[in-house]
Amino acid sequence: MNIWPLTAEPARSVGGMPLTEIAERFGTPAYVLDEEHVRHRCREYRKALHPHRVAYAGKAFLCRAMARWVDEEGLWLDVCSAGELAVARSAGFPADRILLHGNGKTPEDLTAALEYGVGRIVVDSAGEVARLAALAGDRRHPQKVLLRVTPGVDPHVHRAVATGVEDQKFGLSLASGAAADVVRRVLLQPSLVLAGLHCHIGSQIGEPDGYETAARRLVAFMAEFGGLPELDLGGGHAVAYRPEEHGLDVPAFADRVETAVAEECSARGIPEPSLTVEPGRAIVAAAGVTLYRVIAVKHGTRTFVVVDGGMSDNPRPALYGSRYSIARVGHRTGAAETPVTVVGRHCEAGDVIAADVPLPADVRPGDLLAVPCTGAYHHSMASNYNQVARPPVVAVRGGRARPLVRRETPEDLMRRDVG
Ligand code: LLP
Repeated sequence: MNIWPLTAEPARSVGGMPLTEIAERFGTPAYVLDEEHVRHRCREYRKALHPHRVAYAGKAFLCRAMARWVDEEGLWLDVCSAGELAVARSAGFPADRILLHGNGKTPEDLTAALEYGVGRIVVDSAGEVARLAALAGDRRHPQKVLLRVTPGVDPHVHRAVATGVEDQKFGLSLASGAAADVVRRVLLQPSLVLAGLHCHIGSQIGEPDGYETAARRLVAFMAEFGGLPELDLGGGHAVAYRPEEHGLDVPAFADRVETAVAEECSARGIPEPSLTVEPGRAIVAAAGVTLYRVIAVKHGTRTFVVVDGGMSDNPRPALYGSRYSIARVGHRTGAAETPVTVVGRHCEAGDVIAADVPLPADVRPGDLLAVPCTGAYHHSMASNYNQVARPPVVAVRGGRARPLVRRETPEDLMRRDVG
């Protein structure tokens, strides 16, 4: 499975721009993003899901340019904070195609969403209904809401990203009756309209089975209320991080859930809801490549290759045990490959980017390394651990590179230190 961006010559160029040139112009570490790849994935999703809705989950990666691309490609946008909404708003993303999520929406999140007039707010708790209804009360039109339901489906993924199972912080349990109780509460509020149900069963899910089960359960639940117009099945579609892996087959997924929903609705005599899916990773992960410069090579029982970034720009190996592949960019020396462990510069032994990966045995300080499939949950989860500045995001397309997010500076970091 190709894990490089659509326009890439693996380990050489992306979007017609040599990676060596990007590194020279913008420095390292740097996130490189293939605009064409993002747009292509948006189109593939719209085609596979037609005539249903596709909402890009902005938590995977968001900046104004990304919001504009997603808008131009006709997708909806899922945001989960007033901060993400502010980015969307400043890019002019149409409010009626925005969904607001969150298991702990603050008054600021709700107020910002109502003020901008977002299309849907996804209710996640009983208490949120009254709070939202009160805030929405003085508007001319009622606010459309979806209810996030926990369907009791285990997608067999890392514990940190399994969100469809009982006994966790997201959603309202079907099994316990909490979901039914909140449906009744929403129906009593004149300032709210129950547009449908939502679930998000987890992330990095490679098979459609869990989605089908969840869809059937949610339709059965809808039938208790005579059906509802919308069913949002969340995101979580897997991508291949390494060549030997496979992502979710999106057209096959679409077929499976459409058929399941149609069958279940006809068996229960309710109209079919329109569907929404919310892919984040599957749109943007493979569009991104991270560039690092090698700082040191340490030979011992293992060979450690130390680079100028690490867990501050990619916390995923430390958080989820995620595995990446890595390549040297530029000069081919003909050296045989040897297993090395690529580590970051942070003061923590768990600061590993890729363990036991093959690199040319003559890898040395100054070499440029590229890590593919780093477009999702890298920039958006980056930190300033050890007061390390966050890398820039550089978009490439048609032989041109332009910064979307500039590199953080020491001054940026000091600006918040006001004591
Ligand atoms: N919709 C909802 C309600 C979500 O909570 C999420 C992700 C998505 C859609 C998009 O999921 P995706 O298609 O990107 O898997 N930081 C983790 C992933 C956490 C995902 C949280 N919610 C990681 O780096 O793998």
